[in-house]
Amino acid sequence: MRTPQNVGVAGATGAVGLEMLAILEERGVPPVAVRALASARGEDRTVPFGGGDIPVEPLTADALAGLDVVLFATSAAVSSEFVPAAVEEGAVAIDNSRAFRMQPDVPLVVPEVNAHAAAEHSGILANPNCSTIQMVLALKPIHEAAGLRRVVATTYQSVSGTGLAATRELDEQTRAVLEGSPVITEVYPHQIAFNCLPHIDEFDDEGNAREETKMILETRKILELPDLAVAVTCVRVPVVRTHAVAVNVETEDDLSPADARTLLAEMQGVGVLDDPDAAAYPTQVGASGTDEVWVGRVRRDRSVEHGLWMWVVADNLRKGAALNAVQIAELVVDGLPL
Ligand SMILES: NC(=O)c1ccc[n+]([C@@H]2O[C@H](COP(=O)([O-])OP(=O)(O)OC[C@H]3O[C@@H](n4cnc5c(N)ncnc54)[C@H](OP(=O)(O)O)[C@@H]3O)[C@@H](O)[C@H]2O)c1
Repeated sequence: MRTPQNVGVAGATGAVGLEMLAILEERGVPPVAVRALASARGEDRTVPFGGGDIPVEPLTADALAGLDVVLFATSAAVSSEFVPAAVEEGAVAIDNSRAFRMQPDVPLVVPEVNAHAAAEHSGILANPNCSTIQMVLALKPIHEAAGLRRVVATTYQSVSGTGLAATRELDEQTRAVLEGSPVITEVYPHQIAFNCLPHIDEFDDEGNAREETKMILETRKILELPDLAVAVTCVRVPVVRTHAVAVNVETEDDLSPADARTLLAEMQGVGVLDDPDAAAYPTQVGASGTDEVWVGRVRRDRSVEHGLWMWVVADNLRKGAALNAVQIAELVVDGLPL
């Protein structure tokens, strides 16, 4: 396999794209090997990389020529158009949108959980939904030890999960409320500052939000448990960065909280922070900027025969998106990190 020279980041000016650039920089990828792509909006834009700035080029089929791997941090509509174009140009495409995740021939990968799934691909690999990534990392060791019977989860998702415009909206609304000015609502249907919205993505005929359905279907695909009972409620909370998920699991066999903590601590990519009496548990502020999925509040749920609760927290822009995408690229592209 050839040694990749060129890594493209499509959507490089967005919340996930900027984090991808930061992670490539941390990995020591030289600026000469990186190309930043975004919409044609705005002329002469640059993004920071390697201590300097690199130009932002419009994303076109021609602009994808010569790239060995392209990390897509674009909407499903943009990815649907340009991911196949990148593959056509000979690149491996790692896509963060929902566009390809459930296609049977597209691996949906969390490297610590199902790296083997990446072995066979036809040029496209998908990065799962952010809340799904952190939940499956915590579920995997529980399943291997005791067998999952049912999972019920409620998310507490930060506004950066919606993108940069939503982060600005929380900032502006918070200032407006504190200053007593009118609150302007553009990204979300209601004020998000000092509020929680049980509404992430569109609702279907049964009243499920698409984000909830994504978490159910993607969890089953990644864990290779097509019949697993999963129920989810997704909530947007006025937190800038990092998602939390309250996860309730019912298992086939008994698993004590102590054994679950030991297994979670041994799981690659997971950190356990669980001493409630000392107020030691993961928080969204505390986990921001870190690479681990943090688990705490592990305890029995005595309402069922074999039940456990967990509080699972991870930085949605790093492990929930950019870091996981870079890790997938490192799995499948020879020569990464460069
Ligand atoms: N945020 C998260 O935590 C997270 C987690 C997992 C997955 N994802 C997924 O990752 C993707 C990006 O999310 P985000 O949060 O980074 O959104 P974002 O902050 O809104 O960024 C969107 C990016 O897409 C670019 N873009 C928009 N229209 C384009 C076009 N026509 N051609 C090329 N580029 C275009 C934007 O460039 P301009 O500056 O030119 O507009 C920007 O770079 C989405 O599919 C999202 O669902 C996000």
